[in-house]
Amino acid sequence: MKVEFNHQLTYMLESSFLAKLPLLFFSLCFSVVLNAQEPDIQKGKSLFNANCAACHKLNKRAVGPALAGVSSKYDKEWLYSWIKNSTAMVKSGDAQAVAIYEEYNGSVMTSFPQLSDEDIDNILAYTDYTPPAPAAGTQAVEVAAAPESSATNDLILAVLMLVLAALVTMLFLVNKTLRKIAAANGVEFMNKEKQSRTPLWKAYAQNPFLVFVTVIFLLLSSAYVGYSYIMQVGIDQGYMPIQPIHYSHKIHAGDNQIECKYCHSSARVSKHSGIPSLNVCMNCHMNIAEYNGEEDLEKGYTKEFYTNEIKKLYKAVGWDEQTQSYTGDTQPVKWIRIHNLPDFVYFNHAQHVSVAGIECQKCHGPVEEMEIMYQHSSLTMGWCINCHRETNVKVKDNEYYTKIHEELSKKYGVDKLTAAQMGGLECGKCHY
Ligand code: HEC
Ligand code: HEC
Ligand code: HEC
Ligand code: HEC
Ligand code: HEC
Ligand code: HEC
Repeated sequence: MKVEFNHQLTYMLESSFLAKLPLLFFSLCFSVVLNAQEPDIQKGKSLFNANCAACHKLNKRAVGPALAGVSSKYDKEWLYSWIKNSTAMVKSGDAQAVAIYEEYNGSVMTSFPQLSDEDIDNILAYTDYTPPAPAAGTQAVEVAAAPESSATNDLILAVLMLVLAALVTMLFLVNKTLRKIAAANGVEFMNKEKQSRTPLWKAYAQNPFLVFVTVIFLLLSSAYVGYSYIMQVGIDQGYMPIQPIHYSHKIHAGDNQIECKYCHSSARVSKHSGIPSLNVCMNCHMNIAEYNGEEDLEKGYTKEFYTNEIKKLYKAVGWDEQTQSYTGDTQPVKWIRIHNLPDFVYFNHAQHVSVAGIECQKCHGPVEEMEIMYQHSSLTMGWCINCHRETNVKVKDNEYYTKIHEELSKKYGVDKLTAAQMGGLECGKCHY
């Protein structure tokens, strides 16, 4: 599109541009429309991983059939209806649907009414996609390029050293000349005055005011350091322990858009969010034995590294890849707890997530970008209270609050009500 546009630009300059304006406009629109319709393989991959990978592989039969090239097997409309509601298709007696259903001994495929036709186009673009064979030359070129760039670095360093050396010599010469001139004019360096002076430390010790100021300064600064140290106790902002399995929220919640609540399902309904049990992992990982996503070579996160982490998961749940069955030999994973309020504080996830409708990220930070999980917020009392002062209670569509809200807003004479005004600053609400 860019090339085409440039072409049109020069064209505009050359010919009677105004006469061609409608044409230009039309062709621009046309290319935009074309762009919008092009399915997005990357999006398709995320959708596939999040929704289908639990049962389908691309090139191997799993719970369901291999899906590589499936779009050539059926027509589009059939695929749309199948994926959105396969059970209904089987029930309606559609011949193709019944055939595949029977082939798989009546296993039921999940329905996905939430996927749009466009989503499905994206998924199919991904299942149709065959990655190009890696170009043989690339690696060799990269290897050859590396020494060259380090050679340039060396060169820059050498030049800098030379410049530095030249500067030092020049300064030395200037100094020497100046001294010569001074000597010629009869100025004497290092005169005898020096010997009669009291040494600095003695002068200092003899001045009571200076000593007094210093002592005060030392006392104050040590008190300050001590105080800030004490206030830090129990605050673990930024705490990022190494977990027994390198589990990446970036890969799961970010790249593959798996919903937080898929794994932390109790956040909505209970005090705790909880860490998912390994069975939840196996819903998908029975079929995802290898990692094929993006790598970060600089940090050592290679495909092998990630795949090896999945093997740790298998070891922990006792999954034998050869026989595709559980051995019964399990070793629970001891996840290290990161967020942890003191025992005397009461905090409830459901109240914040379901009732107040607060996003996880508001308190936990950009989790979908975290390769390694860490504590984003301070979790101090001030942090809780600040938010209670700033955040309005969500009263819309919240029957529980309509009445209280009306009464309280009369009392305070405001339209909106913060969590603080609802009692969110009362000690007893957060302290047992
Ligand atoms: C709970 C497991 C499960 C999930 C999740 C699942 N499928 Fe299926 N799928 C199956 C099974 C099992 C079959 C075989 C037919 C049957 O038994 O209903 C199947 C069949 C299919 C077929 C027919 C393939 C053929 O070769 O005949 C397509 C296409 C398909 N699934 C697409 C998808 C897509 C796209 C997704 C994700 C949006 C998905 N499936 C998610 C289990 C699943
Ligand atoms: C596929 C499962 C899965 C998904 C999806 C997921 N998590 Fe997690 N989460 C875990 C596991 C496993 C741990 C424990 C390991 C760790 O701390 O990295 C964890 C840990 C956490 C912790 C730290 C718990 C502690 O010890 O204090 C927070 C906070 C968290 N997740 C928030 C989120 C949010 C927010 C999302 C959505 C953006 C999300 N998670 C999506 C599996 C998941
Ligand atoms: C909804 C499906 C799903 C669930 C549930 C799930 N995973 Fe994954 N997991 C994936 C996908 C997709 C990938 C990336 C595969 C790829 O890109 O090739 C992945 C990759 C991984 C990797 C390699 C990358 C990394 O994060 O280090 C590990 C290890 C892993 N998962 C562990 C777990 C653990 C432990 C759990 C349970 C707490 C879990 N997974 C739950 C789908 C899932
Ligand atoms: C209002 C702020 C807030 C919101 C919103 C919030 N969390 Fe938390 N989360 C916390 C605090 C505070 C803790 C520490 C709780 C404790 O130690 O008792 C915590 C702890 C956790 C833990 C560690 C295990 C546990 O339950 O103690 C996980 C996992 C977690 N949160 C996930 C989530 C997910 C997923 C969401 C979104 C659905 C979410 N959180 C929304 C503040 C929040
Ligand atoms: C992101 C903002 C936010 C943060 C951070 C936050 N809260 Fe809240 N909290 C709210 C809101 C909004 C409500 C009102 C929810 C409702 O509608 O009932 C609330 C309500 C509460 C309630 C119920 C109050 C009542 O009147 O019934 C308690 C208890 C509470 N929070 C404890 C905490 C604690 C403890 C922390 C810190 C660890 C904390 N909250 C951090 C926003 C926050
Ligand atoms: C919105 C929730 C909330 C309310 C309301 C609240 N606190 Fe706290 N308070 C906390 C949290 C969270 C901590 C833990 C802070 C930490 O670990 O650093 C805490 C800690 C404390 C501590 C221990 C000292 C410290 O800083 O660690 C004292 C004492 C305390 N609160 C007293 C009170 C009193 C008195 C009130 C009423 C005026 C009150 N709190 C109201 C959430 C609250």
